[in-house]
Amino acid sequence: MKFLDEGFSLSGKTALITGGSRGLGREMALAFAKAGADIVVVSRKLEACEKVAAEIEALGRRALPIPCHVGRWEQIDHLVDAVYKQFGKIDILVNNAGKSPLYDSLVDVSEAMWDSVLSLNLKGPFRLSALIGKRMAEGEGGSIINISSITAVSPTVDEVPYAAAKAGLNSLTLGLADTYGPKVRVNCIMPGAFLTDIAKAWDMEAVMKRFESQTSLRRPGRPEEIIGTALYLASDASSYTTGAIIPVDGGYRK
Ligand SMILES: NC(=O)c1ccc[n+]([C@@H]2O[C@H](COP(=O)([O-])OP(=O)(O)OC[C@H]3O[C@@H](n4cnc5c(N)ncnc54)[C@H](OP(=O)(O)O)[C@@H]3O)[C@@H](O)[C@H]2O)c1
Repeated sequence: MKFLDEGFSLSGKTALITGGSRGLGREMALAFAKAGADIVVVSRKLEACEKVAAEIEALGRRALPIPCHVGRWEQIDHLVDAVYKQFGKIDILVNNAGKSPLYDSLVDVSEAMWDSVLSLNLKGPFRLSALIGKRMAEGEGGSIINISSITAVSPTVDEVPYAAAKAGLNSLTLGLADTYGPKVRVNCIMPGAFLTDIAKAWDMEAVMKRFESQTSLRRPGRPEEIIGTALYLASDASSYTTGAIIPVDGGYRK
């Protein structure tokens, strides 16, 4: 069956993944490479991107490591120019880089912290999607995947600015899907808690106890468990799916 043989293939595609150097981004970068795509690995630290790029090249794919602060539009404009110069196209964009800094109370959230959370989680994905979505729509089409968070629809006291930014990213998903359809599909994954580097700061005993009662699967996610949904949305397997916001959260309920 052609669909089952080729539906999930990314052969001949180029994917740009922000935050591709670690955590969920690295998992998606390596999985997309295994599915046949060339990968642009983006984060602030060139060395970290180069490491993942070397792993991708070892899989026989092309890789381009580029440092970029995704909250800064001027750097994004340079990034997009550099990628089109090198690869000539981007078929898949994954807006994955994100962060949620700690604060003591809402009045302790400084304007600088608010701006930096909104810049990375919302403003950057908007600019990248606008620049790349336009070119995808004028060219051969493409797939944009936003990595939001379950906190977007279920905010907790310690993540209020982040949750608001991710809710904005959910909304952006719908607006972009309509703007750049029918050639470009735009979808969103809302992860629950995954055991990436951010989990290193967690009190694991308390966390595991919480997950026993708060998730139907009774545990947090392993980083590689993001891959199935990401590969589905990146590939033709999801050719009739756009504007979808998909929780991947082990059945989280607050
Ligand atoms: N892990 C979870 O439990 C969880 C839950 C819900 C949602 N999410 C979302 O999933 C995405 C990935 O999370 P993760 O846990 O994999 O994160 P992570 O392990 O902390 O990795 C974050 C990645 O983003 C990059 N990054 C950070 N700030 C950046 C900036 N200003 N510009 C460009 N790149 C930047 C980091 O590299 P550099 O440091 O080199 O820049 C790194 O590659 C995020 O959007 C996060 O909000 C995660």
